[in-house]
Amino acid sequence: MAAFVELSNLGKTYETPKGPAVIVEDFNLRLQKGEIVALLGHSGCGKSTVLSMVAGLNDITQGGVLVDNREIHGPGPDRGVVFQAPCLMPWLTALENVLLGVDRVYPHVSRRERQDIAGYYLQLVGLADAMQKTPKELSTGMQQRVGIARAFAISPKMLLLDEPFGMLDSLTRMELQEVLLDMLQSDGKTALMVTHDVDEALYVADRIVMMTNGPAARVGQIIDVPFERPRVRTVVLEHPEYYALRGQMIEFLEDQDHKRERAGAGNGDVNDDESEADDDDGELSTARREVA
Ligand SMILES: Nc1ncnc2c1ncn2[C@@H]1O[C@H](COP(=O)(O)OP(=O)(O)OP(=O)(O)O)[C@@H](O)[C@H]1O
Ligand SMILES: [Mg+2]
Repeated sequence: MAAFVELSNLGKTYETPKGPAVIVEDFNLRLQKGEIVALLGHSGCGKSTVLSMVAGLNDITQGGVLVDNREIHGPGPDRGVVFQAPCLMPWLTALENVLLGVDRVYPHVSRRERQDIAGYYLQLVGLADAMQKTPKELSTGMQQRVGIARAFAISPKMLLLDEPFGMLDSLTRMELQEVLLDMLQSDGKTALMVTHDVDEALYVADRIVMMTNGPAARVGQIIDVPFERPRVRTVVLEHPEYYALRGQMIEFLEDQDHKRERAGAGNGDVNDDESEADDDDGELSTARREVA
């Protein structure tokens, strides 16, 4: 089946005072329609760089990105973006913040209908009673709900989320994971989500893509997540493969750490990964630990 989203040999080189810095190189990934993919890796490896290139907010220096067969050039309403901080306009209400995008995407429908669309998504994220509040009257979790509503309300083809729950306490985080999963699943949306949290990745994603450490970071290992949908947290946590998959992820990340330490000691390239082998998709070792 043709991929819905295709990142091909994606690369980013930043110009720095010390010369060009290759942050991401030959990053290959394909997402099927409706697939939720988590992107995981050490801080500074280039996760946000990859996501922001797909969002069209960061120039691509190598390769390209196709979304539904169209090469992306700059940002567009086909991609809804959610950042760690909700970045709301402080002088606008929750409804008006969501309307900003809706007005742009549906300029030909009536004001009333646009308000209904914005209101519908705010109600989906649990803010039916807070639509007229401004950001300073909302908790961080509520602001992030507005950010999620804003991203979905433009009816994008895909969602791009960069640590969307990174600033939240663990209870709010779990609540918002449910909200996000419900919205993604009911709309059959394709999503690429950066996270630092192995448990979040296992709960939300169909596949988990782990990046090697930079410089020149790329796809290091991919885990197929076997849990059925719709997901129920207790069922996922009790799944016989849960802890083995979790262990596999932590092992990969620790291994990257050791490579970084060795590279720091002058013993080689952090991406000199002997376990990497290109497969037909240009992705690297798809791994799923089978547990008896
Ligand atoms: N505009 C820029 N100019 C030069 N270097 C940059 C620029 N933006 C990012 N970098 C560097 O690129 C690397 C990757 O940054 P990026 O923000 O993508 O990492 P990340 O994996 O998202 O990290 P974190 O988990 O901390 O958010 C870092 O070393 C960073 O310093
Ligand atoms: Mg980041």
